[in-house]
Amino acid sequence: MKILGFFGKGGTGKTTLTALILRELIRRGEEGILAADADANECLAALLGAEGTPTLSNMLQKYKRQREESPELTGLDIFQNLFDALLMEGEQEGYDMLIMGRGEGSGCFCAVNDLLQAVFEKTVEGETYNYLLMDCEAGVEHIARKTSGKIHDAIIVTDASKVSLDTLKRIKDVAEEVGTQIGNYYVVANKTRPDMLEKVEKTAKSLGFKYLGAIPEDTNFTEIAYQGKTVFDLPDDSPATLAAREMVDQILGT
Ligand SMILES: Nc1ncnc2c1ncn2[C@@H]1O[C@H](COP(=O)(O)OP(=O)(O)OP(=O)(O)O)[C@@H](O)[C@H]1O
Ligand SMILES: [Mg+2]
Repeated sequence: MKILGFFGKGGTGKTTLTALILRELIRRGEEGILAADADANECLAALLGAEGTPTLSNMLQKYKRQREESPELTGLDIFQNLFDALLMEGEQEGYDMLIMGRGEGSGCFCAVNDLLQAVFEKTVEGETYNYLLMDCEAGVEHIARKTSGKIHDAIIVTDASKVSLDTLKRIKDVAEEVGTQIGNYYVVANKTRPDMLEKVEKTAKSLGFKYLGAIPEDTNFTEIAYQGKTVFDLPDDSPATLAAREMVDQILGT
């Protein structure tokens, strides 16, 4: 099981890169992929065409109801059942989709969140999945609550702006602060002018991060967004898909 988390300043391309990497893993025939949309706005689901998927928030509501209706069942039993059902309903072509949704983290859900973490850990550490791709919204703090605190590969998406590059170090600092173990730090430059790439690479290396390369500005994204299409409709030879292919080689060490 390999857990990949996608991080970076707002709007840099986390969701886009998560979708591109997922598309490439499926193209290679990789199996057992779980894609988690950890962003409350559910953009990843839209880009993948998986909007109909039920969310964890829905499940939390169901959990509360079943607790009242079936007092003989333990909380963990109910949760495991609901979680299994959720993953079945989230089945897509070549991968499973899990949407975190809204409503988490509010006080009254605290105990449920703990249970959720327990079941989630069991699932991701089990043998069902080989890959977990998490499109992360706010950063590492947010993700530490939802996983066992282990991320094998943190892929940080950035452009060449100072603000965006400053988040590289911050992500590492926060991960250390909250005790999230991160195996590899990777940096990807997205939508960045070629003459500015050197700065991204230098900054990444100065922090001891591996620079994976650049995803060029690709007009095909505007086209699929306009037509309401998904990442799977991108041409196989579009600049972004080709760049993502090379990155997967590096991530998988192939
Ligand atoms: N390489 C690219 N070429 C062209 N457009 C791109 C590229 N990468 C991202 N975009 C566009 O930039 C916008 C922001 O990208 P995306 O939603 O992936 O960023 P994000 O980091 O996930 O944002 P947020 O912080 O809001 O979650 C989108 O409209 C996307 O289509
Ligand atoms: Mg996003």
